[in-house]
Amino acid sequence: MSDRQLTHHDPVAVLGLGPMGQALATALISAGIPTTVWNRTPERAGPLVARGVTAAPTVTAAVRAATVVVTCLRNPAAVDSVLAAHDDWAGHTVVDVTTGRPDEARKLADWADGNGVDLVKGAILTPTPTIGTPAAVTLWCGSQSAVEAVLPTLGAFGGTPAYLGSEPGATAAYEMALFDLFGTSVTGLLHSFALASAEGIDPRSFARYAAGIAPTLAALVARFADEIAEDRFPGDHSTVASVGSSISHVIEATDAHGIDSGMLRAARSVIERTVAAGHGEDGLARLAQFLTPPRSAWPPGSGRPLE
Ligand SMILES: NC(=O)c1ccc[n+]([C@@H]2O[C@H](COP(=O)([O-])OP(=O)(O)OC[C@H]3O[C@@H](n4cnc5c(N)ncnc54)[C@H](OP(=O)(O)O)[C@@H]3O)[C@@H](O)[C@H]2O)c1
Repeated sequence: MSDRQLTHHDPVAVLGLGPMGQALATALISAGIPTTVWNRTPERAGPLVARGVTAAPTVTAAVRAATVVVTCLRNPAAVDSVLAAHDDWAGHTVVDVTTGRPDEARKLADWADGNGVDLVKGAILTPTPTIGTPAAVTLWCGSQSAVEAVLPTLGAFGGTPAYLGSEPGATAAYEMALFDLFGTSVTGLLHSFALASAEGIDPRSFARYAAGIAPTLAALVARFADEIAEDRFPGDHSTVASVGSSISHVIEATDAHGIDSGMLRAARSVIERTVAAGHGEDGLARLAQFLTPPRSAWPPGSGRPLE
């Protein structure tokens, strides 16, 4: 834990200038925070320099210019290689917003402990245009004192920063689960466009009705949360067996057009396991309990979590 008290004007370095790193650096300079940037491909710093940001030629030069170092890179392996490019990190706070798994975040926390660094790990849940605006949604974890010390930096990113506690994998756990939701939803949406197009439906005409499903899903989020938390799955709105029947028809329609039906088949196999276990008349949230394949499907030593 740090007892450093950073002020509004403590300088910040941003390492990584992809779309998100650029948005973060822009938000920092707009908030009046002295900002230095470094990027593997230096040309990407150009537009930021025109706004008053300093471009550093090396990681070391950027780190030496700042107290708080924001890492915003493609993946944790890139973070490791960038951190390895400098050898005196003691006394700095690293604010890492790179997407990765919880175990990778814990490994980074071990590195921080070993190098005299305060680590604040973040997850940015909204796209680049929201950064620096009230619409930004960000999650943070790390020691409370370290997070409080960098609040001016986190505040510049917009929205109301949410603190999830000291466990270093906490924000990554949320990010993984939420990206699971985003990734499968977007893939499902695009799959539905493919099927609609194959049926000769104009994409814009289809969109009017597809958009109507979004509020239904939003309502299901709260309902499913209650059912999963309370371990009760009433089938009064719709049942697992009924949805399974519909999905079977969609698979046949999809196959008839030669469209990849793999994701629908994966969904149906979960439904089949749930029905086989006697839960066909339960509500859909029951499926969450049957997403893990049965033990016999896992080869020995495949790393299935212990129960
Ligand atoms: N964009 C979003 O809306 C958004 C939203 C939430 C979270 N995020 C997360 O923010 C992080 C950055 O995303 P992004 O959209 O800015 O772009 P990105 O394409 O994921 O990352 C690009 C950045 O990573 C650098 N990079 C990649 N491999 C590297 C390596 N081996 N060594 C050094 N630098 C390396 C790139 O450098 P070069 O320029 O030299 O290639 C560039 O600075 C990601 O983890 C992403 O998941 C992004």
